[in-house]
Amino acid sequence: MTSWLVMFSCLLIAVSGGVEDKAFWKQQGQARLKYSLQHKNVEKFAKNVIFFVGDGMGMSTVTAARIYKGQRQGRTGEETELVYEKFPFVGLSKTYNVDRQVPDSAGTATAMFSGVKTNYGVLGLDARAAPMDCDASQNAWSSVDSLATWGQDSGRHVGLVTTTSVTHATPAAFYSHINHRDWECDTKIPAKHKSCVKDIARQLVEDSPGSALRVILAGGQRMMGFTSEGDDNNDGCKRGDGRNLTEDWLKAGGGKRELVTTKQDLLNVDVGSTDYLMGLFSRCHIPYKSVRGEGHPSLVNMTVQAIKVLSKNPAGFILMVEGGRIDHGHHDNFARLALEEAVELEQAVEAAVEMTDPENTLIVVTADHSHSFTFNGYPLRGNDILGFANETEEVTQYETLSYANGPGYFSHRLNGTDSSPNNTWKDVATFTAEERADPYYRSVATFYLDHETHGGEDVPVFARGPFAHLLAGVYEQSYIAHAIGYAACIGPSQKLCAPRRVSSEAGVGAIKSLRLLGLMGAVLVIL
Ligand SMILES: *[C@@H]1O[C@H](CO)[C@@H](O)[C@H](O)[C@H]1NC(C)=O
Ligand SMILES: *[C@@H]1O[C@H](CO)[C@@H](O)[C@H](O)[C@H]1NC(C)=O
Ligand SMILES: *[C@@H]1O[C@H](CO)[C@@H](O)[C@H](O)[C@H]1NC(C)=O
Ligand SMILES: *[C@@H]1O[C@H](CO)[C@@H](O)[C@H](O)[C@H]1NC(C)=O
Ligand SMILES: *[C@@H]1O[C@H](CO)[C@@H](O)[C@H](O)[C@H]1NC(C)=O
Ligand SMILES: [Zn+2]
Repeated sequence: MTSWLVMFSCLLIAVSGGVEDKAFWKQQGQARLKYSLQHKNVEKFAKNVIFFVGDGMGMSTVTAARIYKGQRQGRTGEETELVYEKFPFVGLSKTYNVDRQVPDSAGTATAMFSGVKTNYGVLGLDARAAPMDCDASQNAWSSVDSLATWGQDSGRHVGLVTTTSVTHATPAAFYSHINHRDWECDTKIPAKHKSCVKDIARQLVEDSPGSALRVILAGGQRMMGFTSEGDDNNDGCKRGDGRNLTEDWLKAGGGKRELVTTKQDLLNVDVGSTDYLMGLFSRCHIPYKSVRGEGHPSLVNMTVQAIKVLSKNPAGFILMVEGGRIDHGHHDNFARLALEEAVELEQAVEAAVEMTDPENTLIVVTADHSHSFTFNGYPLRGNDILGFANETEEVTQYETLSYANGPGYFSHRLNGTDSSPNNTWKDVATFTAEERADPYYRSVATFYLDHETHGGEDVPVFARGPFAHLLAGVYEQSYIAHAIGYAACIGPSQKLCAPRRVSSEAGVGAIKSLRLLGLMGAVLVIL
C-alpha cells in the first residue's frame, strides 16, 4: 500500500512552489475528507484476525517512529503516515493493571488477549490469583481463556510470532496461566511452588491452547531446552530438568511438524505441506533489528510465513504478532533502537495488509503500555528526530527525544560538579556524531534507574476490517478481546454475535436471489 496522502502532499508542494500555503492545506484536508467519506463499516464477521502488539509502543513512540521512517526516506518526516495510521478506526486503551496505576506486560497482555484485567506480573489468571505465590485450586478457578483458546474452539488455526523469547510475558499471556511472568523455565519457579504449577515453556508444549498452536516463531531456545549454551544471567533461563521440549513438540503428531532455527530454514519451509511450524531463532530474544546477523529472520519474514501456513485453513486463523523489543530498547534508553524496532513492526503490518482482505480479516495494531519516553522542544520542521531540540541558542543543547528515567542519566550527567542547573548535564554536542549514531547510544534520562520504566498514559489502538469500528473510543484494555471476539464471533462475545451471524447469513442468500430478479431497490429496503 503506497502512502497516497504523502504522495499527494508532495505533488501539492510541487504545485504550490514548495510552500505549504492555504491551497496546500485546503487540498490536503479535502483529499483526506474524501478518503474518510469513502469508508464503509464492514459488518461481516471476520474469518481471520491478526493482532499486532508493539510492546511499549506508546503514542510518543508512534509519532517518533513515523518521523524517523519518513526521514530515512529523505523527507522532512512529520507528514509521513505509517501503514496502520491509514486504518479507519483508532481507539484509546486504558492500560492500568488491577493493582497498579502503571502496568507491566503480563497484566496488560492478559487483559488484551483474555478480556480480563489482572495483577502486575500475572499471566492468564484473574486478580484473585496471588502474584508470585501459587495455590493450585486458586489458580484453577482464576484461570482465564485467551483469544487462542476461543479461536481453536471455533476451528480456526492459531499462531504466534514475536521477536522476544517465546516464553516472554506477551506471548506467554496468549497461552499460559501462571503466577509470575519470570517462571519461564523450571529453574525460575521457587522450590515451594514447583509442584503447584508448570513453567511457561512446558505449558506451551504440554497444555492447551499452546500445544495446539499451528505456528510458533520466536526466540527462547534455552527455556525450551533446545540448547543450554549461553550465559544464565543474560540469556533467559536454563532448564534444570534436562528436558528438550522441542523434541516433545516434534513427536506430538497431528500432522507434519517443522522445527527451524535459521532465517534460511524459515524461508525454505514448504508452507503448503507444513501443518505445525515452530521456529526458535535465538537462545533468548531475537537480536535487535539494527544489530541482527544474516541468520536471524526479520519480523516481516516471520509474519509472512506465519500467514502462509495459517491461511490454508478454510475456517480462518487468529495470529498474534509482537514487536517485542521496542520495549527493551526503551528500558535501556536506546531511543534509536526502539524506533528501529517500531518501524520493523510497521513493516510487518504492511506485509499483513498486503496479504489479506479487509472484507474478511480484522487487523488490530496496539501497544500493551507506554514508556517514560518524551518528545519535546521546538526543533525546526524536518529536524533530525534523533537530533537537538532547541530552537534558539539560549540554552544548553538537548535532544528532542529523552526519558523521564533510566540508565541514560549517568551517560549525560556531569560528574563531580555542583548542582546548578547549568552544570548538571554534559553538553550533548560534545558526544561525537559517531557516538550518537551508535545503536547503543543512550538518550538522557532525568532520574536515575537501572531500567527505564513503563508509562501510564493510554495507548492507541488502530483497526481495520470486519467490525473494526467496535474499537473506536476510549475503553479498558480488556475490552479489546471482547471486541475482537465479537468480530470473529468467538469466545464470550458469541452470545451477542451468534444470533446476528445466523440472520446475516440468511440475509446474504436473500440478497442474491433478489439480485437475480433484478429487484435492487428491494435489497435496500431489506437491508
Ligand atoms: C533438542 O531437540 C531438537 C529436535 O530434535 C534438536 O534439534 C536439538 O539439537 C536438541 N537439543 C539438545 C540440547 O538436545
Ligand atoms: C525478509 O525480511 C527482510 C526485511 O524485512 C526483507 O527485506 C526480505 O525481503 C525478507 N525476505 C523474504 C524472502 O521475504
Ligand atoms: C541548537 O542550538 C545550537 C547552539 O547551541 C545550534 O547550533 C543548533 O543549530 C540549534 N539546533 C536547532 C535545531 O535549532
Ligand atoms: C559519570 O559517572 C558514571 C558512573 O561512575 C559514568 O558511567 C558516566 O559515564 C559518567 N558521566 C560522564 C558524563 O562522564
Ligand atoms: C545558566 O546559564 C544561563 C545562560 O547563560 C544564565 O542566564 C543563568 O543565569 C545561568 N544559571 C545559573 C544558575 O548559573
Ligand atoms: Zn517493559
